[in-house]
Amino acid sequence: MITLFRHCRIATCDERSQVFERGAVLTRDGVIEWVGEESGLPAGLRPDRTIELAGRWLTPGLVDCHTHLVFAGQRASEFARRTAGASYAEIARAGGGILSTVRATRAASDEELLAQSRPRLQSLLAEGVTTVEIKSGYGLEVATEARMLRVARRLGAEHPVTISATLLAAHAVPPEFTTRADDYVDLVCREWLPALRASCDSVDAYCEDIAFSAAQCDRVFAAARALGLPVRLHAEQLSNVGGSQVAARHGALSCDHLEYATEADAAALARAGTVAVMLPVAFYALAEQQRPPISAFRRQGVPLAVASDCNPGSAPGASLLLAMNMARRLFGLTSAEVLLGVTRHAARALGLDGQRGSIAPGLAADFAVWSIDSPDELGYWAGFNPCSMVVKEGAVVLERNV
Ligand code: NIG
Ligand code: FE
Repeated sequence: MITLFRHCRIATCDERSQVFERGAVLTRDGVIEWVGEESGLPAGLRPDRTIELAGRWLTPGLVDCHTHLVFAGQRASEFARRTAGASYAEIARAGGGILSTVRATRAASDEELLAQSRPRLQSLLAEGVTTVEIKSGYGLEVATEARMLRVARRLGAEHPVTISATLLAAHAVPPEFTTRADDYVDLVCREWLPALRASCDSVDAYCEDIAFSAAQCDRVFAAARALGLPVRLHAEQLSNVGGSQVAARHGALSCDHLEYATEADAAALARAGTVAVMLPVAFYALAEQQRPPISAFRRQGVPLAVASDCNPGSAPGASLLLAMNMARRLFGLTSAEVLLGVTRHAARALGLDGQRGSIAPGLAADFAVWSIDSPDELGYWAGFNPCSMVVKEGAVVLERNV
């Protein structure tokens, strides 16, 4: 099946960030075959289907490269406590926070988890998001971690969205191991990683003094890398405990949060080719004061991505567009940085560069179509969604009147 998308302005987000003002894209069986100015369309072409876009903007389907969208319940009461002055770390130390969602998730059936998570994925899809990373980390026992990964895969099977599943067993010390974090890390390395190796695409950990130390994350990463699994890290979110150096040493795909990262951390990430993932919704919802060192990332040439961090604690909500807006307003990213941050760089953060996240021949035909006058409007609107069509592997999967 050959489909022609025509009469559109195209931001390719390719290596050269090419833009076509009177553009067209040709897809064959779900893969991009040609993109360029419509005047240069290969002659003698007989598309099976032509989709007229009336001058709208077409970008790669967006990639949300950091979410925890599979979970049960909510933590509105913690949000209320935080708005009244309590801190995220205080609540976590008192057995709330992540552990509160662990209790709800363990108690939920697969069907309940699916039913609660589905609307979050659908809200991302309606924003043109066609690839989503989903982490486990609310099981903290092997059976529930496995179940979370299974539910993530089932969501992918049910929706026109590519899912990248991440094992985040080292998210918090489970209640069964209080005061024995090292024993828990041993168990994860020795038994869980080999057992869940085929169920996930990468391995994550939370490096923070309320979670796991740099030395513990180092052990998790060594075990993951020995099994051939790529790694990523939650690092330097609330303090600097050396996580980005560990991530860089293991050639992590991404290092995420990074508010407390230093120039030396940025340099290490740049050398390792690790993507720095900005999570401004968590920064906002936790009312953090310390901004990530964006100018150091720019100076060192660290690729920047932006993600929703969708989770019930630090980033309640399921909107990548809002994250883009906050990345611009709160962190000072430019519209060009934000667009690359949810396309090419986000795909790279998932090890999917060269497969998704750009519009170029040979890549999957995942597109978002926007009712906007300029790509500057991406990350400009706060709480408004100008996405009017979503295309997954060449097929129109969603249309919205906007
Ligand atoms: O990315 N930092 C750790 N993990 C999540 C929060 C998870 C939660 O609070 O439930 C984050 O912010
Ligand atoms: Fe997170």
